[in-house]
Amino acid sequence: MAAYPELQGRVALITGGASGLGLAAAQTLARQGMRVAVADLDAGAAERAAALLGEGGGYLALQGDVASEADVQRMADAVLARHGRIDVLINSAGIADSFKPTVEQQVADFRRLVDVHLTGTYMVTKAVAPAMLRQCSGSVINLSSVAGVLGLARRNAYSAAKAGIGMMTRTMGCEWAAQGVRVNAIAPGYMLTPFAQRLIDEGKLDAGRIRRRTPAGRLGTAQHIADAMAFLASDASAFITGVTLPVDGGYMAWGAASDAYEGPLD
Ligand SMILES: NC(=O)c1ccc[n+]([C@@H]2O[C@H](COP(=O)([O-])OP(=O)(O)OC[C@H]3O[C@@H](n4cnc5c(N)ncnc54)[C@H](O)[C@@H]3O)[C@@H](O)[C@H]2O)c1
Repeated sequence: MAAYPELQGRVALITGGASGLGLAAAQTLARQGMRVAVADLDAGAAERAAALLGEGGGYLALQGDVASEADVQRMADAVLARHGRIDVLINSAGIADSFKPTVEQQVADFRRLVDVHLTGTYMVTKAVAPAMLRQCSGSVINLSSVAGVLGLARRNAYSAAKAGIGMMTRTMGCEWAAQGVRVNAIAPGYMLTPFAQRLIDEGKLDAGRIRRRTPAGRLGTAQHIADAMAFLASDASAFITGVTLPVDGGYMAWGAASDAYEGPLD
């Protein structure tokens, strides 16, 4: 893991921090010496995640729904009350699409997904931004997806929300660039987290086919994403804003009609 000593003592708020990519980010940023607030819909999981980070590091567990403006404000206020600043925000809270044919999809499911991913990212960032703008520094890291760039059938809400997050990353990145607040996104390919494992177990994703479609020939790990997040959180990325960075083993670079990976699947 690269070391970013400037992160020592800085404060991170991570939504969806109790699982998967958010949890890996929490552990990675804690190892860099950051004080991390884990925010999640699941209170028990948030407590367990914060406890995993260890004692005495200024870790905080917060329960809340990123789709609720009141919850979002309460969570941002709690971090500010405890630490007086927020240097890094990671918007990692997320849920999966129904994967149903469009004509069978429920509008309520579409709305909920957009509420959690797109409106949630918007509201949490809006709640945290005033503190970052006062500090004249901050790094917001959003979660897009290959689904926000490429067309994946049956994933209307998820793809639209992730594409929206990519564009909002640009708009907010442009708005705050001169004030020292950066906004970037990561577009993960297929990462073996509880989120992806559930979809594989339910037969909604085929791990073998994903590996064939990925030039690297394998699914990524949460740590691959957490390492990119640490870079985007750090001063090493000080002139990078408004960008959506693919971390996908080459998935989005591949355009040929053949398999991207022809090696063994073991
Ligand atoms: N894992 C992948 O392969 C992959 C690929 C592309 C994008 N992503 C995106 O990365 C993000 C994290 O995914 P993950 O794989 O870590 O998923 P995960 O299911 O492991 O973790 C998501 C966390 O978000 C929390 N959450 C869900 N709804 C919430 C809400 N309304 N408010 C607060 N917390 C809520 C969950 O309780 C959970 O702890 C998501 O936005 C997902 O779309 C993941």
